[in-house]
Amino acid sequence: MPDTLELITAGQMPNNLQPFWMPFTANRSFKGEPRLVVGAEGMHYTAIDGRKILDGTAGLWCVNAGHGRKKITEAIQAQAGQLDYAPNFQLGHPLAFEFAARLASMLPGDLDHAFFTNSGSEAIDSALKIAIAYQRMIGQGTRQRLIGRERGYHGTGFGGISVGGIVKNRMFFGSLLNGVDHLPHTFDLSKQKFSRGMPDYGAHFADELERIVALHDASTVAAVIVEPVAGSTGVLIPPRGYLQRLREICDKHGILLIFDEVITGFGRLGAPFAADYFGVVPDLMTAAKGITNGAVPMGAVFVRKKIYDAFMQGPPEAIELFHGYTYSGHPLACAAGLATMDVYQEDGLFERAAGLAPYWEEALHGLKDAKHVIDVRNLGIIGGIELEPKPGAPGTRAFTAFRKAFAKGLLIRTTGDIIALSPPLIVEKAQIDQMVETIRAVLKEVE
Ligand SMILES: Cc1ncc(COP(=O)(O)O)c(C=O)c1O
Repeated sequence: MPDTLELITAGQMPNNLQPFWMPFTANRSFKGEPRLVVGAEGMHYTAIDGRKILDGTAGLWCVNAGHGRKKITEAIQAQAGQLDYAPNFQLGHPLAFEFAARLASMLPGDLDHAFFTNSGSEAIDSALKIAIAYQRMIGQGTRQRLIGRERGYHGTGFGGISVGGIVKNRMFFGSLLNGVDHLPHTFDLSKQKFSRGMPDYGAHFADELERIVALHDASTVAAVIVEPVAGSTGVLIPPRGYLQRLREICDKHGILLIFDEVITGFGRLGAPFAADYFGVVPDLMTAAKGITNGAVPMGAVFVRKKIYDAFMQGPPEAIELFHGYTYSGHPLACAAGLATMDVYQEDGLFERAAGLAPYWEEALHGLKDAKHVIDVRNLGIIGGIELEPKPGAPGTRAFTAFRKAFAKGLLIRTTGDIIALSPPLIVEKAQIDQMVETIRAVLKEVE
């Protein structure tokens, strides 16, 4: 195996890692021991030293159809040659309309309009703005308050971190949006330990919304936003009946319900969206990541017909929503997205994920007695393995496991002392076994 110096000499390794300020990364530690990948195909990355790394996380929960899908690559290449860029402000290009219609045809209920963004974070901030503006459009302008949830992750815009519930993502950034409240998170280790799929305990956490409404009055509340399955804070599966109850309480009080489906969208649970899986239709839904299989940055907000219609008032020459991005509905993203939907459909990937979910569950729960493991959680093709934190050094066990797993040819993701898994939906049973056995072996080595 070539070492770092040999790789630099061969021109493969950048010889200066300093200028790139890496996101959500321990920069100094990384740059001292860089983990670089230079290629990807199917279920594997190729590391800079030539090793194959099994992708247990679909990149960052985005490459649902596996890496290097030819159809998607070719669609992007062809589009770049045909129309590299066109604005969608007072002008347009056919693919954006085609892609929005394609998505609308897949969405549950009457979610039937798409507002395009470039990331999940932008989708969240767009959804929050649309929700507040909608209330104003229907004569409910006092409804400005937003309700998020503890341990929620909604990207990194000011709106997203304000409704989000991760302390480190919030504490450095000032006073955030005002008028935000948080529901309690739904996780209770003592009552939900080693649940398979949805825990039976915890639907009552939704009732806290009644308490918040009673405190502020419904006439001040615009929207509630939750991830149907919370991913980034360590895979928190909603208790049975919880999302239904949230929906009922929102309906009772005229509050919009927003599902952040940035990770659950596009087959992760074995259904097109979590809304389909749980049988709960939100008023707005955010998506990103799997929308283009990760190949071109893109996000979207999907809204119910009543929301779009509420904006279509006044003189037809007037702009209805003062919001958008230079790259909203970028031609390359739309081309990638349309090809991605073809791949999902042609390969039956959502159904495949549903068929594989029981095997996934069984395999993951095989780690119940592995060293340090205090909980295993799963739903669809998502897994969470929680470790007992090392006394006085929380987070270090999982992070050591991450580094050791990478050295053994497996990419996992960690948050605190939780290992999160979300492989591409093309994963084979033997590769699931490989993930589980690698993690078991790695945990044995972790102090
Ligand atoms: C639920 C959820 N919402 C929003 C985001 C932010 O998406 P992005 O990183 O594309 O801005 C993420 C990213 O992981 C996410 O998991």
